[in-house]
Amino acid sequence: MAGPGELSGARPGERHGERHGERHGNGARGRRGGRPGDPGRGLLVVGAAEVATLAGGPRRGAAQADPAIAPPGTAIACLDGRIVAVAPAAEASEALAAALEAGGRDPRAIDVLDAAGATVTPGLVDAHTHLLFAGSREDEVAMRARGATYLEILAGGGGILSTVRATRAASDAALLAHGRRWLARMLQTGTTTVEAKSGYGLDTATELRLLAVAGRLGAEGPVDVVPTFLGAHAVPPEVRAAHPGDPDAATEAYVAAVIGEQLPAVAAQGIARSCDVFCESGVFSADQARRILLAARAHGLEIRLHADELAPSGGAELAAELGALSADHLGAPSAAGIAALARAAAASADPAGSAAPARAALARAAAWSGRPVVAVLLPTVPWFLGLAAPEPARELIEAGIPVALATDFNPGTSPVTSLPLVMTAAVLMLRLDPAEALVATTVNAAAALGLADRGALVPGLRADLVAWDVPTHAQVPYWAGTNLARAVVVGGRLVVGARLVAGGMAG
Ligand code: NIG
Ligand code: FE
Repeated sequence: MAGPGELSGARPGERHGERHGERHGNGARGRRGGRPGDPGRGLLVVGAAEVATLAGGPRRGAAQADPAIAPPGTAIACLDGRIVAVAPAAEASEALAAALEAGGRDPRAIDVLDAAGATVTPGLVDAHTHLLFAGSREDEVAMRARGATYLEILAGGGGILSTVRATRAASDAALLAHGRRWLARMLQTGTTTVEAKSGYGLDTATELRLLAVAGRLGAEGPVDVVPTFLGAHAVPPEVRAAHPGDPDAATEAYVAAVIGEQLPAVAAQGIARSCDVFCESGVFSADQARRILLAARAHGLEIRLHADELAPSGGAELAAELGALSADHLGAPSAAGIAALARAAAASADPAGSAAPARAALARAAAWSGRPVVAVLLPTVPWFLGLAAPEPARELIEAGIPVALATDFNPGTSPVTSLPLVMTAAVLMLRLDPAEALVATTVNAAAALGLADRGALVPGLRADLVAWDVPTHAQVPYWAGTNLARAVVVGGRLVVGARLVAGGMAG
C-alpha cells in the first residue's frame, strides 16, 4: 500500500490516461486479470479522509448545503465505467470482487487507489462554457480599464465579433487542438464533464463545424463534452451590413436565419443536446429568444439561456415560463424574474401542491419538464469585467432556486478553466458555503445539463471522481488558486495523478 500522502504504484513511468479509449471488456488476461490500469479491471478507492457523495439528487434551499458526507472508512468501488459500491472498504471490495466474478472475470483483478488523507468528491461538472474559439482578447481588458464597457466593445464590432472573425478562419485541426489544450487544463483541476457552446460561427457552416468538433473532443475523452447550439450569440457582421442603419431589422433577419436555417441543420445532424440564446437588452430580446427556443424544443433540443447577464432583460422570466434546463448568469435579474424561477422550482418539486397562484402560468413548464430551472451562476464574469455587483446568489438560494456554478470559459468575459477557482469566487463574492459551492459544481451542475448519471458518488452512476489534497471539502475553495486535484478518475479509469497498486482487499 502507498505511504502517507503518496499514491505509489507497481509500474513507475506508466501513464494510465494514455490508454483512454481502449474498450472495457474481458480482454485483460494473465495473473490477477492483467496489470494495474488495464481495461476490465475494477478500481477501489480507499483511505479518504472524507468522501462527499452528493447522494440524494439535485438540491435547493437549505438542502443546497448538504454534501452528503459518507461515514469514515468509506471506499468507492468502480467497474466498467460505473460505480458499483460506496461502502465500508471491506464491503466495497467484496462487492467489486463479486461483480468481477459475475462477469466471468478474475475477482482479484482490482486496482487500488489509496486516497491517503484526501477528500474524495464526484468529478466536477462545468455546465457552461464557450469552449471552442480561436484567438484571444486581452486587448479588451485594457479597453475596459480605460472605461469602455463590454456591450460598447461588442456594438463597435469587437468583442464576440472579433472572436467570430478568428474562429471562422480557423481550421478544424486548429479548433481541435485548442479544445484539447483547454480540456486538459480543466481536467487537471478536477472537471470531468464540460458543456461546450457553439456561437463563434454565426453562420450555418461554422456553427455545425464547432458542434462537430465538440462532439469529436467528447468522443476522444477523457473529459465528456456536452454540445450546445448558440447560434443566437450575436448578429454577425454580414447581416448587420445587409441592414445599414437598422440594427433591429438586422437582428430580426438573423433570428429568422437561426430558426429557418441553422436550427434545422443542427437538429438534422443530431450534434447538439441543447439550444441557448444570449437574451440581453441590446442583443436578443426575450421575445426573440422565446421564438428561437420554442423552435429548438420543437426540434427536440433541450433549452437554456444566457439570462440577464448585464441588465434585467426578461431572461429569468422566460426561463421559468419555458421550463428551461437552466437560466445562466443572472447577474442582474429582476425581482419578478427571481420570483418566477422560485415558483418554477416550487411547482416542479410539488406540482400539485403549494404553488397554487402560479400553477396556471407554470402548468405547461412543470408538466413538460418536471424539474426546476437551475440557476447557473458564473462569478468570474463580473470579476473579470470589473462589475461592482456579483450575482444575487443568496437571494436565489433563499428563494428555493437550485444553484449551479460554472466557469463560462470564453475569451471575452471569463478566460477561466478552473472550477475550484470559481468555487473560491462563489464563496468570497457570492457568500456561498463551501458545501453549497460543491453541490453547485457537481449534482446541481449535472441537473443543469439534464444529466442524471453523474454528479454524485452513487452505485450505478458514472465512476467520475476526484481526490483532493485536503482533508475536507471545505478546504477546496479555501486554498484560493492552488490546484489541489491529486487524482482524477473518469469512467473508472485513473487519468490524472497518482498511480495504482494491484490487489483488492478481499482477494
Ligand atoms: O457568457 N455573454 C455572452 N457570451 C459570453 C461572452 C462571450 C464573449 O465575450 O466572447 C458570456 O459572457
Ligand atoms: Fe456564457
